[in-house]
Amino acid sequence: MSTATQTATAPLQVLLVGNKEEDFFLIREILERNHNILPAELDHARSLDEAHAVLQDRPYGLIIFEHETGDAEAVRLISEFHHAGRSVPFIILTENADEKTIAEIINSGNWNCVAKSQLDGATLVRSIRSTLALHSMAKEQRSAEESLRKLSRAVEQSADIVLITDRKGVIEYVNPAFETLTGYSRDEACGNTPRILKSGEQGPETYQEMWRTILAAKVFRGILVNRKKNGELYYVEESISPVRDADGQITHFIANGRDLTERLRLEAQLLQSQKMDAIGRLAGGVAHDFNNLLTIITSYSELALDAVAEDSPLASKIQEVLLAAKRAAELTRQLLAFSRKQPQALRIVDLNPVIAAIAKTLPRLIGEDVEFSFLPGQGIRPVRIDPVQMEQILMNLAANARDALPQGGHFRIETSQVRLDQDYIQHKPAAIPVGDYAVITVTDNGCGIPQEDISHIFEPFFTTKPSGKGTGLGLATVYGIVKQNKAFIWVYSEPGSGTVFKIYLPSVGKRCPIDPDNSKNERPAAGNETLLLVEDEQAVRKASAEFLRSLGYTVLEAKDGMDALALAQRKQFPIDLLVTDVVMPNMSGGELARQLVPLLPKIKFLFVSGYAGKTVLDHNVFDLETNFLQKPYSLKQLAGKIRGALEGRNGSACGQPAGLPRPAARA
Ligand SMILES: Nc1ncnc2c1ncn2[C@@H]1O[C@H](COP(=O)(O)OP(=O)(O)OP(=O)(O)O)[C@@H](O)[C@H]1O
Ligand SMILES: [Mg+2]
Repeated sequence: MSTATQTATAPLQVLLVGNKEEDFFLIREILERNHNILPAELDHARSLDEAHAVLQDRPYGLIIFEHETGDAEAVRLISEFHHAGRSVPFIILTENADEKTIAEIINSGNWNCVAKSQLDGATLVRSIRSTLALHSMAKEQRSAEESLRKLSRAVEQSADIVLITDRKGVIEYVNPAFETLTGYSRDEACGNTPRILKSGEQGPETYQEMWRTILAAKVFRGILVNRKKNGELYYVEESISPVRDADGQITHFIANGRDLTERLRLEAQLLQSQKMDAIGRLAGGVAHDFNNLLTIITSYSELALDAVAEDSPLASKIQEVLLAAKRAAELTRQLLAFSRKQPQALRIVDLNPVIAAIAKTLPRLIGEDVEFSFLPGQGIRPVRIDPVQMEQILMNLAANARDALPQGGHFRIETSQVRLDQDYIQHKPAAIPVGDYAVITVTDNGCGIPQEDISHIFEPFFTTKPSGKGTGLGLATVYGIVKQNKAFIWVYSEPGSGTVFKIYLPSVGKRCPIDPDNSKNERPAAGNETLLLVEDEQAVRKASAEFLRSLGYTVLEAKDGMDALALAQRKQFPIDLLVTDVVMPNMSGGELARQLVPLLPKIKFLFVSGYAGKTVLDHNVFDLETNFLQKPYSLKQLAGKIRGALEGRNGSACGQPAGLPRPAARA
């Protein structure tokens, strides 16, 4: 192409290689004579070496070689010269060339051959013209082949699948990405139609629409659900375009597809976790308000019970109210667990002994027909958990296994230590950080969970059990606790083959022992100390104050932090204990405690809350076991906690936040 342009614009630069001066003059004279139809300038190199040197300096559009007949050496040199990659058109000038020499010359890769005897103007100009045209065509062909080679390499190496069919839809080509994704080899696919990928998940209208579009010579774009050779489904974003021949007739179709399965799965997962978060917030909010109401119900029922004679018919009715309130409190506790708002008493512990202790209680729960085993693994590193929450998890999983095994079977808990590295995590269906984990594997060989239920089982109130048998809060509780502990849970289940839950707990450094004395706090309730009771919910405050006074305490009531501070500043009373709600308008319980310490250095604290979530934990001022009471509480529990706080019994220091006063420790 460039030669043609060169011919049209600038004179053609011609180099004659040969030692015959008369030939040079002859050719130059011919070129000059034909200058108007073929503008050209001629140079002369007297040997091949000289030609090499000249060609280094200047580009030539044509080389004319003189060739002595029978000079095999010259043929070889010309051939070498040509194959050195110089893409310059050649003409060989021969003397009485025989067929053999001409064949050799052609084989050596040259284009044209002119007999010296016929070297007149017309022959030379014609030969030059045809040589240039031939050369230009060959160059175009080479470049077309080159881009074809690149394109086919791109298609072969593409991560997207490429499939080419003839007009009738018979597959002629598939690329390696197609083979990898679908499991069909090229040989298996070619000769078939794309119907081998049909999943049955789409109605015929999708295919009709596709054919309508591509036969109208338009590009079809859409997401198709196809089936691999092994039966698995995959989602592919496909574009199918027709290929037309020179007459505009469709000869082939090219389908180009991108596998969307992984992306759609991740999107679904994100959606699922967003949904769980939203439900969690809702559940947490409901539970919080419920706790306040239940505290009122419980408190007044207790007060009423104390006010009626033991044999009064009212007593049993009030007992029923109390019982119902207790059941409701259990429900809100589960909701709080799900919404990750449950107060935690975190300990760094060895997992095996904690599970072994819980495991002792499980056979009673699952019944005799279910064979239970606990297989503690070796080398389990400590984890940070609340042992009580661990019990909640295992009890719920055990109860579910029992329900899944009405005819009996086995239920197994195992522990193991694993390291999840980048490699492993990449193939996991959920995001989980690299690191060391203690894994609790809980297996049963019960009825299993249908695929369509799996994505719902952790939702609160999802149950497949008959009404009255399940509330659907068991796994929601498990899920909430797992998330609260920054752990991960997976479920694998197949209907008929049982269910496996795996819980990954991040390993931590060193452990510290559990102080068994801290787990219970029931105490004789009465006392004669002075209590400052801060609670913004008036009904709760009134009921609590009335009850505490009946036990002998002097109770000062304050509706908020400011009110309490004002009371303390008056210093009319020696206040022994502050009993305060944590989350209150204007001033939090933690802040109130901080401001009271300078005024009343000996004061002790008890915090209560119906919303012991992050808000509470953020206050960092109390030990959750000794100085905290979760609403709803019974008045007796309140009295017990008050005694505990007054007597300065303190929880373990493990996990105690630093930097802020720990009121109970000031006793
Ligand atoms: N091990 C299991 N085998 C079979 N199905 C299970 C198993 N665990 C959970 N499920 C299914 O998940 C559902 C939800 O379980 P979840 O523990 O949350 O609620 P529940 O057991 O129905 O009620 P609750 O635990 O509140 O009494 C169950 O109803 C059951 O369909
Ligand atoms: Mg359950």
